[in-house]
Amino acid sequence: MQTITFKVTDLPLVIRTLDRFVLARLSRQSEPVFIDMTCPHRGGPLTHGKHQGESVLCPWHGNATSFCRLQRLNLPVASHGDRISVEIEGFVGFTRTQTEEVCNHESNNKENNCDNE
Ligand code: FES
Repeated sequence: MQTITFKVTDLPLVIRTLDRFVLARLSRQSEPVFIDMTCPHRGGPLTHGKHQGESVLCPWHGNATSFCRLQRLNLPVASHGDRISVEIEGFVGFTRTQTEEVCNHESNNKENNCDNE
């Protein structure tokens, strides 16, 4: 595990690990939320996919993944003023998301990205 730190104002942000693309964003209650946006097909970056209805199209092979299938990750997190620290395995770097719709998606399913906060 590695602890990484970023500014709240940097969100939404993509945390790249060796095998995942994790979207970090704020909930409506301004709490940090981490969503695994790794394509279930072959691990493509859904963080850079195109929004289509209730799904996101993977930029690698074009498969559609429903927003409600995206898993929320329960990562150890701490806030210190305007900074957020999170523990994550295999950290590689940060990138920006191009899929802003995912950041704001709402639904009634609490088990995944579809937040009813
Ligand atoms: S990796 Fe996403 S469609 Fe193949």
